[in-house]
Amino acid sequence: MILHISPQRIAAAAYESMHGAKSDAALEKVSLNYGSADHYFEKTRLEPGNQGSKKAFTYFVLGASKFIYASAVRLAIINAVATMSASADVLAMASLEVDLGGIEEGQVVTVKWRGKPVFIKHRTAAQIEESEGVPLSAMKDPQEDSARVQDSKWLVVMGICTHLGCVPIANAGDYHGWYCPCHGSHYDGSGRIRKGPAPLNLEIPPYTFTDDGKIIVG
Ligand code: FES
Repeated sequence: MILHISPQRIAAAAYESMHGAKSDAALEKVSLNYGSADHYFEKTRLEPGNQGSKKAFTYFVLGASKFIYASAVRLAIINAVATMSASADVLAMASLEVDLGGIEEGQVVTVKWRGKPVFIKHRTAAQIEESEGVPLSAMKDPQEDSARVQDSKWLVVMGICTHLGCVPIANAGDYHGWYCPCHGSHYDGSGRIRKGPAPLNLEIPPYTFTDDGKIIVG
C-alpha cells in the first residue's frame, strides 16, 4: 500500500521536530510562513505558454534538419555516381569514327585508337580470294578468314605485332600482308601469323559499320 503525504505535511513534520510544536500547529505555522512547502517553485516557475506554437517550432526544426541531412546524402550520391561515369573526353577516346569513302582498294590506312595503331585494309577481290584459300594446316594460329572479318572487303586489325609489340609494315612480307622487321614475323592478308617468332594472329578490335559508309572502332 502506497501512502501519499503532501509536501506541507512533510514540512510541518520537520518544523515540529525542530520546534516541538504539535502537528496541526506546525502545519498552520508552515502555511502561514511559507504559503506552501515549495513556495519558491510557485514564485519562480515559468508559465507553460502556448503549447501549440512550441510543437510547431519543434516540428519545424526537426523537419529542417532532416531535409538538410537528406540533401547532403543526395549530393554525396550524385558526386559518387559522377566520379564513376566516364567524362566526355574519355568517351571520345573510347571510340573512333573513320570514313571509309577515301580508302582505295588495296590501300591500308593506320588510325590511332586508345593510343594504339589500328590497320584498316580495303582488300581487293584477289586479296580476299587468297586469304580465303589458305588451308588451316598452314597456319601457326589457325583461323578462318571469315572469322576475322565482318565484310570481306574490309579487314580491321590492331597494328601491334604479337611477338614483342612492334608495329608491322603493311603490304610487305612473304604473304602480302604485314611484315614485322623487329624479329622477322610475316602475317598474311588476313593478319594471320604465317612465319617468324610471333605466336598469334594480329588482334581484331571491336568495331561496327554504320549505314553512311563509316566504321566505328571501339
Ligand atoms: S616484335 Fe614483331 S617479330 Fe618481334
